Amino acid sequence: MPRTKLIAANWKMYKTPDQTRDFFRDFLPLVSGHERDEIVVCPPYVDLAAALEAARGSNIAVGAQNLHWKEVGAFTGEISAAMLLSLGVTHGIVGHSERRQYFGETDDTVNLRLKAALEAGLTPICCVGEVLEEREAGLTDDVLRRQCVRAFRAISAKKAARLVVAYEPVWAIGTGKTATPELAAEAHAVIRSEAGEVFGEEFAARMRILYGGSVKPENAAALMAQEEIDGALVGGASLEPKSFAAIVKY
Ligand code: 13P
Repeated sequence: MPRTKLIAANWKMYKTPDQTRDFFRDFLPLVSGHERDEIVVCPPYVDLAAALEAARGSNIAVGAQNLHWKEVGAFTGEISAAMLLSLGVTHGIVGHSERRQYFGETDDTVNLRLKAALEAGLTPICCVGEVLEEREAGLTDDVLRRQCVRAFRAISAKKAARLVVAYEPVWAIGTGKTATPELAAEAHAVIRSEAGEVFGEEFAARMRILYGGSVKPENAAALMAQEEIDGALVGGASLEPKSFAAIVKY
């Protein structure tokens, strides 16, 4: 069974609700009727309502960039999976390297968020990836295995059914340096083999692994041609309707 590719936009801290509506106005006609791949847009929280409204009835799903593991509570500034679902959000990014780098995200909190997302019925996009020093020291496989094992801890294959992983080498994010398709595919194979250890081979064969890190219209086709690569998580190039549409239609 071939895996349906998932092309996701991570807008990071860009765009207001008005700019979100403008994006969808221009983007929707460019990808209408595109059934080959799943398309997800993950805007900042304040834009979710505008994105959901604009995407209603279309082939585009809306995701959040983070979520807290508790349903409710005294957690100032946090948003729960239940809250996202109540809006109509279906996907959630978990453990992005920028959260790990700047906001104290650890393998343990990634695990908590992942469990909460799966429990609630969201499709989590769980990010893993090595930093440059780790790659240069030959530690990439170890880092990926460690991040996966810890993120997947105490989750059953049944619960994990919706899980999507994104391989985002930190040195390729926002730098214009893309991993070569071969390098990315190698890392994906490591992630898939770790998922096989934890959840079983059958699960791993079905699990989608996205590549993220300077994906652009010019390199999308070569990356997507790799059998191991099941889609993309796109930052900068997803902010512009034409360039994101070109990636979706690689
Ligand atoms: P860029 O596409 O801007 O490199 O960002 C990648 C990313 O972090 C997506 O989550």
